[in-house]
Amino acid sequence: MPPNETIISFSGKTDLDLLFELLRFPSVSTKADHAPHMLACAQWLQALLRESGFETEVCVTGGHPAILARGPHVPGRPTVLIYGHYDVQPAEPLHLWTSPPFEPALRNKRVFARGSTDNKGQILAHILGARHLLREEGTLPVNLIFLIEGEEETGSTHLDDFIRARRNDLRCDVIAISDTGMVAEGYPTLTQSLRGIAAMEVFLRGPVTDLHSGIFGGAVVNPAAALVKILAALHDPRGRVAVPGFYDDVENIPAAEREMLAALPVTEADYQRETGVLLLDGEEGYSSLERIGIRPTAEINGLTSGYQGEGTKTVLPSTASAKLTFRLVPKQKPDRVLNLVEIHLQNLLPPGIEMEIVRGHGGMPYVLDLKSPWCGAARRALERTFGREPALMREGGSIPIVQKFRDLLGSDTLLLGLAAPDCKAHAPDENFPVDSFEAGIRLHQHLLRELAAPV
Ligand code: BES
Ligand code: MN
Repeated sequence: MPPNETIISFSGKTDLDLLFELLRFPSVSTKADHAPHMLACAQWLQALLRESGFETEVCVTGGHPAILARGPHVPGRPTVLIYGHYDVQPAEPLHLWTSPPFEPALRNKRVFARGSTDNKGQILAHILGARHLLREEGTLPVNLIFLIEGEEETGSTHLDDFIRARRNDLRCDVIAISDTGMVAEGYPTLTQSLRGIAAMEVFLRGPVTDLHSGIFGGAVVNPAAALVKILAALHDPRGRVAVPGFYDDVENIPAAEREMLAALPVTEADYQRETGVLLLDGEEGYSSLERIGIRPTAEINGLTSGYQGEGTKTVLPSTASAKLTFRLVPKQKPDRVLNLVEIHLQNLLPPGIEMEIVRGHGGMPYVLDLKSPWCGAARRALERTFGREPALMREGGSIPIVQKFRDLLGSDTLLLGLAAPDCKAHAPDENFPVDSFEAGIRLHQHLLRELAAPV
């Protein structure tokens, strides 16, 4: 698919102009009617990479297209693959945005737009870092491959097959990704681990139709009541996941690891301020950083039943449903966890209610090998860019493809995120500081230089 070069031109544009342009594509992967925007966004990235000196392809996958690009090849240099995603989460609820999500706006030295941090700003910093190096030096210190997909936010469902099919084109010594956070804005951070994820949707059915809650209420099972009953049994009073067997594969955290987390420049007060909750809450006996970084969880992401409109409606709903995700730590497997949850919910289901469970995406956790020479190169690049030793972070979020890369390509991934703690990823008013964008462009130049000579 050749890009439409009569429309796409990059001459005379600043790095920030390019970021604004990229953010204007409403590339929401989960919405089927946004497919044309997805393709247009992929073609824009292809055109930019091509104009920067890369051989590029917009590749057909089982879902939204992926962009594959390759820099000039020099035998003997290490091959580095940079992965990112151009798809974004839905922008709703729209009325909570200060400015429209796909009309990027600059306020307080931050760019506000859906995807500004997750992941367009961060992947563009990678591209521009390489673009500047190539312009200045006519060559790159490593053989560079870009893989930028359009389905990360929906679980990268077609990327495994794509990687298998194109394994030879994706062979690399190491992978680098900027799609994680910094412990504090501008504080260099190397992510040591990501949690895995397992998603499911639970559908309950009671009466064959909605009923008058006065005429039938009291004599008929209510699926909304059944749903809250079984969901309330996901946790015990100590904040642990109450699904039998859920913790079977969870390893204890060594004391040294807990001490390292405690020493990070992140406090309970930071979490309280960023979230605005009255009280931080979770599994008893663990700090917030531990609850997020190294403990598994069960979350309710959405609930639907009955009347949601204005005012009262005396209805006994026929159906109720919930969207759930479980965050997993090393050794936990998505399929096994979903099996256990299904048994647990089935056991608790009140008689007279039918349950159907539809499984969603899943992904394995990831832990970086800190002893690898690539890791040393990443640390040096972070230190050179930000002028201090990087923090090692355990992230609660998931990037399922990272462990898949290790399984399918045999390569480890360096996670050098640029997201600020208050970036509002997935939420209204998502934003990316201009300083982080510019630092990211410098970081990725340092990174390519350091990866050329890992020690
Ligand atoms: N960039 C995030 C993942 C992330 C965020 C990792 C913050 C660490 C810290 C990514 O785009 C994302 O949102 N992933 C999803 C994965 C899911 C849809 C399979 C997530 O974690 O919910
Ligand atoms: Mn995301």
